[in-house]
Amino acid sequence: MNGSKLRVLFVTSEAYPLVKTGGLGDVSYALPNALRQLGLDARLLLPGYPAVLEQLSLVEVHENINLYPLQEPIRLLVGTMPDGITPVYVVECPELYERDGGPYQDSSGIEWPDNALRFGILSKVAALFGDHNLLFKPQIIHCNDWQTGLVPAFLKFNAKPRAKTVMSIHNMAYQGLFGKEVINLFGIPPESFSIFGLEYYGKVSFLKAGLFYADWITTVSPTYAEDIQIAEYGCGLEGLLTQRNQQLTGIVNGIDTSAWDPNNDAYLSHAYSSKNLPAKSRNTQALRRKLKLPQLKQAPLIGMVTRLTEQKGIDLVLPIIPDIIKTGAQMAILGSGDEDFENRLQELAALYPTKISVTIGYNEELSHQIEAGANIFLMPSKFEPCGLNQMYSMRYGTIPIVRRTGGLADTVIDATPKNIKNKIATGFVFETKNSAELLSCVQRALQSFREKKTWRQLQINGMKRDFSWHTSAKQYVSVYESLLE
Ligand code: ADP
Ligand code: GLC
Repeated sequence: MNGSKLRVLFVTSEAYPLVKTGGLGDVSYALPNALRQLGLDARLLLPGYPAVLEQLSLVEVHENINLYPLQEPIRLLVGTMPDGITPVYVVECPELYERDGGPYQDSSGIEWPDNALRFGILSKVAALFGDHNLLFKPQIIHCNDWQTGLVPAFLKFNAKPRAKTVMSIHNMAYQGLFGKEVINLFGIPPESFSIFGLEYYGKVSFLKAGLFYADWITTVSPTYAEDIQIAEYGCGLEGLLTQRNQQLTGIVNGIDTSAWDPNNDAYLSHAYSSKNLPAKSRNTQALRRKLKLPQLKQAPLIGMVTRLTEQKGIDLVLPIIPDIIKTGAQMAILGSGDEDFENRLQELAALYPTKISVTIGYNEELSHQIEAGANIFLMPSKFEPCGLNQMYSMRYGTIPIVRRTGGLADTVIDATPKNIKNKIATGFVFETKNSAELLSCVQRALQSFREKKTWRQLQINGMKRDFSWHTSAKQYVSVYESLLE
């Protein structure tokens, strides 16, 4: 690229360690870092939530940017991520972002009523960068999920030379649907409210805006890129994605291999590696102690760390928990989300206190301790764009049980006799969304768990895999370069 650094603005609604509700936060931290390591000038753009303003030392770069329909001007601030690597631009706008609660919902889990405005304004600021109206002039604006879907629309309707847009889908199930009136809020031409534009069954879909107007679309695994072109997974946008499939690339996520390293993880009582697997069992003992589960040495411990939503297949797990327990296994579950799932899990924990521990909430430390202490990790998702926990599990010698969908299909290799023999098997995979199939997959895993040599080989196969961002980040660079040719 002419010896000068390729300039990318990565626009996102969350980024670890500042603010994270799921995998998007992890990716928004690690991918820009990996791009910078490859020599690109990647920078972040985030809303000025309290957690962002508190954790970064920021200086003002632009004051008083007036953005319709806001009454008060916004300020644009700049700082650097806490690890000192990636520069971050922050949109400071107290009326939109400075409130208690989460990035998308209030503390009782209700969506903020002004989310269209909150993320429309974030997207407007990104478009100002894209129009080359601000100090940093990115060649690529990399948008993520519906919260940034309007960026490609804003830029498309602007004739000036502008940055190219890449729209990454982390989850099709969240589309950002709002009433038609939001078009007027942002001055988007009314003709865009059509099937050939951002209209979706009479509403405005921020995600569809991104998918329709972006110069390129990516999603977070090759299998999910195929999945979303059919009705079962496309959430009504499968037709558009099929039409655009020549500009759609599936790139599997990497993981942050320094934050997730069993040999150097501050949350663990005992460091371990594939050469020192007995030390893993000391983490199992510590986890049992912490969760007040009896030390049943021969019992396999099955872990789950998850948002408790339909997507993650909790309703497949709930009915078979008594059967799983009958096999002698114990379970350690950490999650939060739908109240009904939370309640049903807590009821089971009360019923089987020596067998299941359920922790409701978000807990970074415990998530690492479960990844390290569990023998098996359960991830029976109905759909999974990529999924990160199955990769953390393999890296931690914890064997994943997954459904063959999206990124789970792309990252876990089933323990068939042939794959075991070829030393490539890393987990257990089942096909159909039903509890009986899941249960027989769990039983298959438990059978292997008793075959100590096979089990150790599965652990080693997973621990040897390279899940770092390096390869995937290079694929993003190829996408950016092809757009700039
Ligand atoms: P998704 O983004 O769909 O939730 P991923 O597997 O991509 O799924 O990423 C989830 C991320 O969020 C992982 O880093 C996981 O450890 C973390 N996580 C999910 N639920 C919790 C929780 N209750 N406590 C701590 N971390 C959690
Ligand atoms: C979404 C998906 C998850 C993916 C993550 C990061 O939250 O549900 O599968 O790993 O985004 O891309």
